[in-house]
Amino acid sequence: TGTPVIFSGMQPSSDSLHLGNYIGALSQWTRMQEDFDAYFCVVNLHAITVPQDPAALAERTRRTAAQYIAAGIDPAKSTLFIQSHVPAHAELAWVLNTLTGFGEASRMTQFKDKSQRYGSDASSVGLFTYPVLMAADILLYQTEVVPVGEDQRQHIELTRDLATRFNSRFGETFVVPEPQIQKGTAKIYDLQDPTSKMSKSADSEAGLIKVLDPANATKKKIMRAVTDTGDTIRFDRDEKPGVSNLLTIYSVLTGRTVEAIEEEYTGQLYGHLKKGLAEVVEETFSPVRTRTEELLADPAELDRLLAGAADRANEVASTTLDRVYDAVGL
Ligand code: ADP
Ligand code: NA
Repeated sequence: TGTPVIFSGMQPSSDSLHLGNYIGALSQWTRMQEDFDAYFCVVNLHAITVPQDPAALAERTRRTAAQYIAAGIDPAKSTLFIQSHVPAHAELAWVLNTLTGFGEASRMTQFKDKSQRYGSDASSVGLFTYPVLMAADILLYQTEVVPVGEDQRQHIELTRDLATRFNSRFGETFVVPEPQIQKGTAKIYDLQDPTSKMSKSADSEAGLIKVLDPANATKKKIMRAVTDTGDTIRFDRDEKPGVSNLLTIYSVLTGRTVEAIEEEYTGQLYGHLKKGLAEVVEETFSPVRTRTEELLADPAELDRLLAGAADRANEVASTTLDRVYDAVGL
C-alpha cells in the first residue's frame, strides 16, 4: 500500500497491564496505527524463554490481546496477533540463528543481565537466541520502523546487521528497519517509590496502578501515594518526585499541561490532587476494563478477531519466508 510498516511486540507477562505500559506503549501505538501499517504481536514464543505456568501463559496471552483491543488497538486498522499463530516466526528465527555469530549473540547485554539473574544452568538456549527471534519478528513484515525503548537499541542493531548480512550474502530480501527510540514519552514512576519506574516486577504492588484493578483499589493506591512533607502542588522532579509523578500522570491522561493543572490546584492540598487524579484514572480505565471484560466473556469473538489477524500476518510472513527459503536454497 506504500504505508510504512511498524512492528511492535509485547510479552504476555502479567494479568493486567499497568499505567506505565498504558502511557509508554499502548497509547503511542493507538496513535501510530492511524499512520502506519501496524503489526502488534503478543510474543508468547519469547515468553517461554523463561519458565512459565502453561495455564497462566495461555490466559495472559488472551488477556493481553484483549486489553490492547480494549484500549484502542483497532483490529480493522492494525494487525494484532499472537506470535505462535504464525509459524514463520520460528522458521525464520532458525535461518537467522545460522547467520548469527556466537560471539555476536554473547554480547547482548539483556541476555547477560537475565542469565546472571537466573544462573547459567537455568538460562535456556532460547533465552540466548531471544534477540534472533526478535529479529525474525521484525524482518518478516518488511518493517521500516520499530518503536522501542532505549533498552532495545542493541537488539535493533542486531536485527539491522542480520538483515544487511542476509541481503549481501543471498540477495536483496529484507528491508533494513530503523529504530524509533521513544524519548518524548513520559516515564511513569512507582507511587510508593517515585524515583524508580513503575514496573510489574516491583517488590510490592502498592505503587503499581493496574488497568484492570477495580476503581476503589486504584483510588486507595493513589490516595496513599508517597509525596513529601511540604504542601505546595508544584512540579519539581528532584525535590518533589512524588507530586511530580502525580502531575505527569494527570497531564498525560487529560492532555492538559502541567502548568494548567498546578494552576487549578493552587492553594489546595495533596489530597485534593490525588482525589482529582483518581477520577481521571478511573475515567480513562473504566471503559478499557468494561471492554476487556466483554472481550474475555466472548471467547469465540476474541478468537475470531485474533484468527483474522493471524491470517493477515501469515500471508505477509509466509511470502517473506518463501523468498528466504528460495534465496538460501531450502
Ligand atoms: P515492565 O517494566 O513492567 O516489565 P515492560 O518492560 O514489559 O514493562 O514494558 C512494556 C512497555 O511499556 C514498553 O514499551 C515500556 O517502554 C513501557 N513501559 C513500561 N513501564 C513504563 C513506565 N513506568 N513508564 C513509561 N513506559 C513504561
Ligand atoms: Na493502520
